[in-house]
Amino acid sequence: MIPQKMHEMFAKPNHDEASRQEFVNDFRVHLASRVFPGTFPAYFGRVLPAFVKANGREPKDRHEVRKVMTKDPFYQLWSAMQRNSQEMIWDSVIDSVERQLPDLLKKAKDLKGQGSLTLNPDVVVPKYHTAADIHLQPGAYHTDSGPDDLAAGAVYDRGTYIYSMGGLGEGNDGLGRILHKFFRKQYPDMKIGRVLDMGCTIGGSVTFWSTQEPGTEFHAIDVGAPCLRYGHARAKVVGGNVHFSQQNAEKTSFPDASFDVVTSHILLHETSRPAIYNIFKECYRLLKPGGVMMHLDLPQAHGQSPLEGFLWEWEIYNNNEHFYGQLRELDMNDVATKAGFKPESFKVHQVASTWDDGQTPYSAENFTFPVYVGVK
Ligand SMILES: C[S@@+](CC[C@H](N)C(=O)[O-])C[C@H]1O[C@@H](n2cnc3c(N)ncnc32)[C@H](O)[C@@H]1O
Repeated sequence: MIPQKMHEMFAKPNHDEASRQEFVNDFRVHLASRVFPGTFPAYFGRVLPAFVKANGREPKDRHEVRKVMTKDPFYQLWSAMQRNSQEMIWDSVIDSVERQLPDLLKKAKDLKGQGSLTLNPDVVVPKYHTAADIHLQPGAYHTDSGPDDLAAGAVYDRGTYIYSMGGLGEGNDGLGRILHKFFRKQYPDMKIGRVLDMGCTIGGSVTFWSTQEPGTEFHAIDVGAPCLRYGHARAKVVGGNVHFSQQNAEKTSFPDASFDVVTSHILLHETSRPAIYNIFKECYRLLKPGGVMMHLDLPQAHGQSPLEGFLWEWEIYNNNEHFYGQLRELDMNDVATKAGFKPESFKVHQVASTWDDGQTPYSAENFTFPVYVGVK
């Protein structure tokens, strides 16, 4: 694993904690590189021939593949170990956060830096977040244990690094790097006065953007207070300049035409179908004329083979990513046009999951993210 860059707000693991965390990471790399590939011979050598023999045809979609693959002993073995490794991530990280929490709270209070934090205890965390702990992180993004709590953010910072096997880069900001690079490729000369990032969590992505666009005013919203508190403190220590606020992306308090650019980085797949429609409408309302909306997210089901589609959905059935199923099926052109974007001003791009500074996410070789781009 590329070592994660530590910063002043990071919950630094001690010797034993580091050893556990590195074990979990290496276990996940082993599963991904040595065990998971065995699902292909299991499917093509055993499961598919048995299906064809029984039905006289191949499975027509990923749902039919699921019915047979989930009974295969090799797939069951990989899947059970993968699920266990996911639980082990949080077990290995929570200890070091809890041990250092009083220090982290104090540091966050004393920090000097740029940007701001505005919390609103009246914001209701949507049901699509409270229904289950997404990614199995205990308490998810929003569980708040007190007025200054930031534990969920500190756990997320280290936990997602191990979750992605270092794939988000040493600064854990790879998604921001990918989208910012794509944005500047598409709009090299665009002057951007104000940018809003929706569903920012600990602001890894938007904070990176803010370091690349020094004259721009960055705002970032999320519903989870502990992640926002940590994100604000983290942005200060890594030299970012972001105004964080606790708001629901479906309906924010910003006036119409407030922003030149509205972004999100893997927000949509963790919301509901009506929420995705509402978020696009809100983006349209918030953009200035000529402004650009860019949402980077996980792949949809269209165009995937039945096996590929089934494998992509492991997270839905085993990692509390239940709502990703909504995005997999949606007609995004319909979502965009219902929000107000003209059909010719909306396009789905496929963007490579790599960036230019020599870092290539291990877990995402040959992988592309769809990016939904609308211009008002
Ligand atoms: C996968 S995380 C996003 C990661 C983050 N954008 C990054 O680049 O590191 C999804 C985030 O979206 C937030 N979220 C989900 N629904 C939301 C909504 N309706 N309004 C604002 N934030 C939301 C969650 O609280 C969570 O922090």
